[in-house]
Amino acid sequence: MKPQANTTASKRIIATISLLSLLSSVTPLHAQERQWRSGEDLYNKVCGYCHKPEVGVGTVIQGRGLPPEYLTIIVRNGFNAMPAFPASYVDDASIVELAKYLANLPAIPPAPAGATP
Ligand code: HEC
Repeated sequence: MKPQANTTASKRIIATISLLSLLSSVTPLHAQERQWRSGEDLYNKVCGYCHKPEVGVGTVIQGRGLPPEYLTIIVRNGFNAMPAFPASYVDDASIVELAKYLANLPAIPPAPAGATP
């Protein structure tokens, strides 16, 4: 009966391996789905509604060279009045693109001291 036991064991191993490879090929694709065409697209359609200099609801985030890691932490967790955005809405790759786009936009000089808003 030994050969039969071995056959069952190898079938189980093959089944496990195919299940694992199926999972590993499906999961990252789903998690990495791009939600925005470019960093510019994300800025114009989401962040810019609050953060563009002419809006002034959020802080100016362009032209400061903010690293993607910092943007990701704020975007995922929110920050006081700013809501958090999940990866299903603003994906990691789009935040990296956004960081590059924002770094290349002109910096906005701060208002002179004593200026009334
Ligand atoms: C609904 C308006 C709103 C939207 C949309 C929004 N933010 Fe904000 N964000 C804010 C506000 C308001 C603050 C300032 C909170 C405070 O200082 O109390 C803020 C703060 C921040 C900060 C930290 C402050 C700084 O200047 O370093 C970063 C970074 C940031 N937002 C990035 C983003 C990015 C990237 C997006 C787009 C994915 C985005 N925000 C979308 C309102 C918004």
